[in-house]
Amino acid sequence: MDTLDYAKTPGDTSWFVRDRFGLFIHFGLYSLPARKEWVMRLENIHPDEYEKYFKHFNPDLYDPNLWADLAYKAGMKYYVITTRHHEGFSLWDTKYSEYKSTNTPYGKDLLHPMVDAFRSRGLKTGFYYSLLDWYHPDYIIDYFHPLCDLPKEEVLAMNAKRCQAKYNKFMRDQLTELCTEFGKIDVFWFDFEYGISYEDHNSIVEPYVKNCPYLTGKWAKDFECKELIDLVRKYQPDTVIDKRFNIYDDTGKVIDYSDFIAMEQTILEEAPRNEKGERIPWEICMTFSGYYGYDRDEIKWKTTKQVLNSLIKIVAKGGNFLLNVGPTGRGEFDERAVRILKEIGEWMKYNNQSIYGCGEPPKGIEACEGTALTYNPEKNRLYVHLLDYPELGCAFVKGITGKVEYAQFLHDKSETRINYMPGQVGEVPSSNKELVFFNVPIQKPNVEIPVIEVFLKS
Ligand code: GLC
Repeated sequence: MDTLDYAKTPGDTSWFVRDRFGLFIHFGLYSLPARKEWVMRLENIHPDEYEKYFKHFNPDLYDPNLWADLAYKAGMKYYVITTRHHEGFSLWDTKYSEYKSTNTPYGKDLLHPMVDAFRSRGLKTGFYYSLLDWYHPDYIIDYFHPLCDLPKEEVLAMNAKRCQAKYNKFMRDQLTELCTEFGKIDVFWFDFEYGISYEDHNSIVEPYVKNCPYLTGKWAKDFECKELIDLVRKYQPDTVIDKRFNIYDDTGKVIDYSDFIAMEQTILEEAPRNEKGERIPWEICMTFSGYYGYDRDEIKWKTTKQVLNSLIKIVAKGGNFLLNVGPTGRGEFDERAVRILKEIGEWMKYNNQSIYGCGEPPKGIEACEGTALTYNPEKNRLYVHLLDYPELGCAFVKGITGKVEYAQFLHDKSETRINYMPGQVGEVPSSNKELVFFNVPIQKPNVEIPVIEVFLKS
């Protein structure tokens, strides 16, 4: 089985498993408090009070062409924008809510220009859509809702007047707009079910449920997710949909509706497989720091090298990397994000061949310490990423003895001979028959992570 063969899913994942690198954008009213996209819940802000951000939302420097340029130059092939996050604010001129960008001081639709800008640069379009909504008056208050800390009687009285079915209809109406008014949508990114009960709660849910143990979460059936998916598939049959909830049929069996698994922040040890042993497409989203929305006071930022390490290690396991940016209230990318995106672009300019169209190396080929391997099955080429530049001028790979036709650095196409010790003439057979070593200069080339391209014999 080719290492880019994945289980067949309802949508078209052929581009998704090759393009590998995308941009996540979390943009909404939460850019103004600048204290994470969960600020409304983290600080239990009443929707009436949160309204101040709506009244002051005016991203005057918003220019999606600049965003799209940065993403394009960073080598990203798709992007996913939060069309509406948990706070309930819509970035487009939806007919079904007043809580939208056109009704803020900014006064304009943010989404259409964004879609046009990214599309004109060849990036594929992804829409994130939140199942949660902390603004909608029919959304049943649960343990993630910012009002959950009010006295129990008040919450129950409010819930008695709310109608989740109406809210679900609202979601379907909005999704119909998103499916029909923006051309081809390549990704739908739904977020998320959280039905876990107080009794079964885990450490993640713990802080949220402890003051309101009488409240529940919501499962996919509470959001009528099956209907949402059917609707999206009807209008956008090829789109790829993430898996952040389970849909069951009447017999309790899981229905396979999704195209890829969407995880966050940590890299998987192994590519996920289905019960038939086939690879399932997967993606990991990550932030530069902590949360996803603009967070002014967050200072623990990753370095460019750390971000590149993640990209490479994820592709080496056959996954996609979705790197997040949280634009500021003025509609700009944080300057730290801009710098790192540019540096990633510099690396991608010379090394993107080790990312696009690549995945796990075939069985039996293994990376040695300090390196990560990706493999392009269509070209039969292996890419050795020197994550920790070797001190002794040698980089080792296991499992390709007798199979190397030619090897070179990607960044300058300079030959990297095999089995040559630095300073020696002639080939030195490795004492360990399983290992091939590549001779690299003692001084690290001026590339963040140098990559050796190995042409394997067919
Ligand atoms: C979680 C969070 C959300 C974020 C998402 C990204 O579901 O609720 O804030 O958008 O993860 O993976």
